[in-house]
Amino acid sequence: MDPTAEIEQGLSAFGEDFRAQFAAAESELTLRSARAELLGKKGRLTQLLKLMGRVPADQRKRLGEAVNASKLEVEACFQARLDELSRAAREADLKATPFDLSLPGRAPARGHLHPLTQVREQVLDTFEGLGFEVASGPQVELEENNFTKLAFPPDHPATDMQDTFWVKVAGAESARTLLRTHTSNVQVREMSQRQPPMAVVSGGAVFRRDDDVTHSPMFHQIEGFWVGEGVSFSHLKGVLTAFLERMYGAGVAVRFRPSYFPFVEPGAEVDVACDFCTETTCASCRVCKGTRWLEILGCGMIHPEVLEHCGIDSERYTGFAFGLGVERVAMRRYGIPDIRLLFENDPRFLAQF
Ligand code: PHE
Repeated sequence: MDPTAEIEQGLSAFGEDFRAQFAAAESELTLRSARAELLGKKGRLTQLLKLMGRVPADQRKRLGEAVNASKLEVEACFQARLDELSRAAREADLKATPFDLSLPGRAPARGHLHPLTQVREQVLDTFEGLGFEVASGPQVELEENNFTKLAFPPDHPATDMQDTFWVKVAGAESARTLLRTHTSNVQVREMSQRQPPMAVVSGGAVFRRDDDVTHSPMFHQIEGFWVGEGVSFSHLKGVLTAFLERMYGAGVAVRFRPSYFPFVEPGAEVDVACDFCTETTCASCRVCKGTRWLEILGCGMIHPEVLEHCGIDSERYTGFAFGLGVERVAMRRYGIPDIRLLFENDPRFLAQF
């Protein structure tokens, strides 16, 4: 067929159908494919345009203008529908409920203090409330402050390689240095620096060569002591009983049991009644192991020799001291059977406190 006639027929067959097609397109995708049928590489108008080369020169202007006019109409119609669709989409977006307000919220996971920190803060707070001030001491300590001034004899088993981490400090190899085995070094340091009266508490990490379900090579203690004129064992009992009642509830049964520490005389261990069992279930109680009592702390009247080592007149002043294991309190409070759980930092475990 001659190209002029072919184009003329094509144009008249082309008609206005595309308008209805575009109007019916409900998505940008269908709209674009409807346009491609006309103006794409193999589109109907594109085919007609391809014929233009073969049209005689005197017809070319007229036909060219006609095809182009159709093309422009298609483009304009396409663009109008495209604008309509995006306006509608935007309006629907604005009108839609942005999200369902009635859905339960997804709260971000919230952390909290580690159970050991919680216990430490409670204990320190309680003593601060009783008038004690908070001090701190180093974890790497001289033998003198950890043992000697506390009247440990040089061959005391606690100083043994099995119990104590001895360390060499670069540049001070001759100094006998260790990781403190208890927080009692703070007693020595504070008492060596000042004169009574003083009432001090201090918490921190301590280290011993121990490792099983109830012992960790690193654990935490809280130390407290009060030195002044006329401080007596009844002050010790009163302060510690008040503390234990705050921790375990008013009226909790408290037991003072004679015990030995080289730096106190007399010395005692303090137990509170186990509240994980009753008289009848106590035999199988994992927490108190059938004893009905939980050992909480060691204490005693500071040995006069220790006061003298620290430059305090033991004729004039007396004092008491106590030391408490933070892990032990936490384990007994929460019924935690294995101390290592406290240091693994498994969020499934920690989330329970
Ligand atoms: N330092 C002792 C210990 O670690 C505890 C203690 C402190 C005992 C103060 C008496 C007085 O076992």
